[in-house]
Amino acid sequence: MRSKIIAGNWKMNPVAADFEQLTRTISEGVQKLTPDSQVMLFPPALYLSKMLKLTNNNTHLAIGAQNCHYEPKGAFTGELSPQMLSGIGAKHVILGHSERRKYFGESNQFLRAKVDSALEAGLTVIYCCGESLDEREAQQQEAVVEEQVDKALLHLTPEQFEQIVIAYEPVWAIGTGRTALPEQAQEMHRFIRELLAKRLDQSTADACRILYGGSMKPANAADLLAQPDVDGGLIGGASLKAADFCEIVKAAG
Ligand code: PGA
Repeated sequence: MRSKIIAGNWKMNPVAADFEQLTRTISEGVQKLTPDSQVMLFPPALYLSKMLKLTNNNTHLAIGAQNCHYEPKGAFTGELSPQMLSGIGAKHVILGHSERRKYFGESNQFLRAKVDSALEAGLTVIYCCGESLDEREAQQQEAVVEEQVDKALLHLTPEQFEQIVIAYEPVWAIGTGRTALPEQAQEMHRFIRELLAKRLDQSTADACRILYGGSMKPANAADLLAQPDVDGGLIGGASLKAADFCEIVKAAG
């Protein structure tokens, strides 16, 4: 019922010339697979325009941004507004990635403003949530994720929620090579879906795509994606290797 999403988050990679080759190889690979899933790439903002052009003819591949500000314009040195992103043809934006929360101090309240503004500009939001290792060891994962989702998303209407995708990314699994077990991912995804059902409504909860992120790779993708509440993946490291990323797209079907 829910189509899957496979999204590649390139973070602050790759450097200069390599991005064009990587884009072409992934784009061709995805085109050959003609997947039922939606495939998305999130490059550094500098490459967005060029990548939108390079992938213009590929209906299976969408391009989005890794972050945006909440104001449409103004004196915010170094920032990009959601209107600027949608203005060049980007369709999606990642908000609340744990690296933004950790290194740039982004709070749930701040993210709520960004979510509102991105939706206003017509972007789909991939909203990230997930607990740290300490929080998991203290059995706090549900409370942490509930707060992250509650503070930034649960004020939205069911109509607005159609433009929301949630990515559950346990921080202890990001870039560490340590992946959540499929059962651990399923448990948290179900928890998030039940939260949406309780606080919004059942059909919004049933329709919302919840992606898993954290060291997803060809070797573990099929098992994670087979879980009933795992609707795709947000992939960092493995999205920088065209062959690995395409394998994951293939696993998603
Ligand atoms: P990873 O990153 O796949 O390299 O663990 C995932 C993410 O941070 O979105």
